[in-house]
Amino acid sequence: MTLKAETAAAGRLRDAMVDGLRPWGLALSGRVDAAMRAVPRHLFVPEVSLERAYGPDPVVTHRDGDGVPVSSASAPGTVAGMLEKLDVRPGHRVLEIGAGTGYNAALLAHLVGPTGSVTTIEYDEAVASAARSALHGLGAAVTVVHGDGMAGAPGRPVFDRIVVTAGAWDVPRAWWEQLAEDGRLVVPMRILGLTRTVAFERDGAVLRSRSVLEDGFMPMRGIGAVREQNIAVGAGPDLVVRLDDDRPVDAAALHGALNHPVAVSWTGVAVPWGWAEHLDFWLATLAGFCRLLVSRGAVEAGRLMAPKGPWGSMGVVEGGTLAYLTTRPAPGSDVKMPNLEIGACGYGPQGADLAARLAERIGDWDRDGGQGVRLWIEAHLAGTERPEAPGLLLAVDKRDSRVLVRLAERAPAQV
Ligand SMILES: C[S@@+](CC[C@H](N)C(=O)[O-])C[C@H]1O[C@@H](n2cnc3c(N)ncnc32)[C@H](O)[C@@H]1O
Repeated sequence: MTLKAETAAAGRLRDAMVDGLRPWGLALSGRVDAAMRAVPRHLFVPEVSLERAYGPDPVVTHRDGDGVPVSSASAPGTVAGMLEKLDVRPGHRVLEIGAGTGYNAALLAHLVGPTGSVTTIEYDEAVASAARSALHGLGAAVTVVHGDGMAGAPGRPVFDRIVVTAGAWDVPRAWWEQLAEDGRLVVPMRILGLTRTVAFERDGAVLRSRSVLEDGFMPMRGIGAVREQNIAVGAGPDLVVRLDDDRPVDAAALHGALNHPVAVSWTGVAVPWGWAEHLDFWLATLAGFCRLLVSRGAVEAGRLMAPKGPWGSMGVVEGGTLAYLTTRPAPGSDVKMPNLEIGACGYGPQGADLAARLAERIGDWDRDGGQGVRLWIEAHLAGTERPEAPGLLLAVDKRDSRVLVRLAERAPAQV
């Protein structure tokens, strides 16, 4: 293909990519729409075909020694959604943490225009260097810094907007110090293993969410890396307990859990396709909350109950007992939009009791609003005064901040 033909083909695919975001409910503002139609995404992922570059999926560009993805160009829908929440205006000073390919930084440069500025920090030196070349090749005025974004951008002024494109375990002091008084921070926050992309607005020493969306992100590396434990239960690879932080788990006691017959507690709570918005935060209030990865083979062989999700389910461990969510078709369910009843299955000496307690929390979620439930997330700088938080569901202490998850009385304002 000649360069001219390639450029024309890329332009068509780029328009199709942006048009394709609409069915996903992403009505883009004029500015984000124009930026995404203008910036040639394929130049940031030269290793893949044009079709792949403009497809709906993320493009993984780097993996670690174990083959785990460590850098990518995020999916266009994710990029667009975050930019909408960030609300970048011409003239803004923007800091991005996680330059990756540089694609999002190029979009940011388009949005801030000639009177604004974009600084992007990348942890991985080779990734930073590739992003710098791609941005330079395009003539985008972006400063690419190699470093750990948890430390902010030392020596630089405050920013009107900060966007983080890797899953962050904490809101470090440096981001507070570098965010303007009326600034906005969009960050995929990891809270007890759950990730939500939160658009925060600053109100003194408190960051208050304007929107909370569920999305997956590769975790932050460096000083802010998430400490994740993966504990195999039993002899085989049937079940793995995954949890963040250094919360204690009695791995030896859990080994016998699967020798007990399963105990199931059904709830009468049915949701379309089993999708239960933010239910995991209600379960996270139980001590021992974790993710349980359940192998498909063990389910197919009848050794374990099918978990709620394809990979496994949220659940709880307590001593030598564990319990996780499962589903079954709800009676009289619509074929086009099948309703699944959620239940809890328990294994171990206290399996019936733990399954019943998990089921009780599902009932609480349903009574608190169920599918229509809305959450507010706040981050308070550690050591600052903690005001009363009505509707408090969870309070999680991080290194530099205290994160509160609250039940909103009404839908939070959408950005
Ligand atoms: C999903 S990718 C970013 C996508 C990118 N914004 C783009 O447009 O291509 C996440 C990036 O965050 C980087 N990262 C992870 N931890 C970091 C840290 N502590 N500081 C800066 N960058 C980090 C990773 O190396 C990776 O390149």
